[in-house]
Amino acid sequence: MLIDMERAKTGIPGFDKLVEGGIPRGFNVLITGFPGTGKTIFGLQYLYNGAKQGESGVYVSLDAPADQLKVQAKQFGWDFDALEKQKKVSFVKVPEGSIKVNIFSMIEDAVEETGAKRLVFDNLSIFHVNLDQFVVPLSYKTDLNPSITVDPAKMKDKKYRYEVMPALGQDPKGRTFYTGASESRIIYLVINALADLRTTNLIITDAGKDDQLTADGVSEYVCDGYVTLSRGEIGTEESRSIQVKKLRNTKIITVSHNFDFNDNGIVIER
Ligand SMILES: Nc1ncnc2c1ncn2[C@@H]1O[C@H](COP(=O)(O)OP(=O)(O)OP(=O)(O)O)[C@@H](O)[C@H]1O
Ligand SMILES: [Mg+2]
Repeated sequence: MLIDMERAKTGIPGFDKLVEGGIPRGFNVLITGFPGTGKTIFGLQYLYNGAKQGESGVYVSLDAPADQLKVQAKQFGWDFDALEKQKKVSFVKVPEGSIKVNIFSMIEDAVEETGAKRLVFDNLSIFHVNLDQFVVPLSYKTDLNPSITVDPAKMKDKKYRYEVMPALGQDPKGRTFYTGASESRIIYLVINALADLRTTNLIITDAGKDDQLTADGVSEYVCDGYVTLSRGEIGTEESRSIQVKKLRNTKIITVSHNFDFNDNGIVIER
């Protein structure tokens, strides 16, 4: 029986028909692959198509600055500058050199300011490597901690909320932060925090030694969906392929499909 769920169409030619027409709203879909397999372009195309359909989006970039992503997008005719001015797209970038950044508050604000329905997190592996830069909320549902005193006058100051408070172990909403050391638990908490946004999320991460699993070995189990991008050679020809390995509540087509880049972005072959 098909399950009737509202789905976000990626608009990436050939992709939606692999997943019953789109990604169920509110889901976290992991996009994995070796370097240079097209993960970022896939994410940009997803946001661009959403914005064109009237759905705003947030791009969280932990490596490339927004300007670089915009140049990358331009080659396919996607004008993210214009979308940003129209508040249809927002880029979240961690302030350089900062530590104990509450990136989740930054993301929440960006989602709220743009009314975003889509989000791309690029990427989980970099987050993991730079973990000491961030605080990770244990839960968005913890009871307010009575020992935390919030200075209401300072709450409008984003630096105070994003950097000063988290460095003190505090959060505007009274959330507590994870201080344990389990790497798997951190991945799990990050994915949960992104799910709590209620946007439909693409979470990009690096592939492991063989490109069938992720480097962290956990996120593919925690996320609702799992898509791999690969690259190979057939003779002297380069070939690229995409495979939907998992998508909850969805009858997926799991065979690997070749894809290519044309002037308008990624196109998945039939
Ligand atoms: N117009 C194009 N035609 C053909 N190939 C392209 C085109 N644009 C980009 N590429 C290929 O896509 C790759 C970059 O894609 P992208 O940045 O999305 O990869 P990525 O998986 O995000 O990489 P990383 O892991 O380094 O972040 C380039 O290495 C290039 O080979
Ligand atoms: Mg990338």
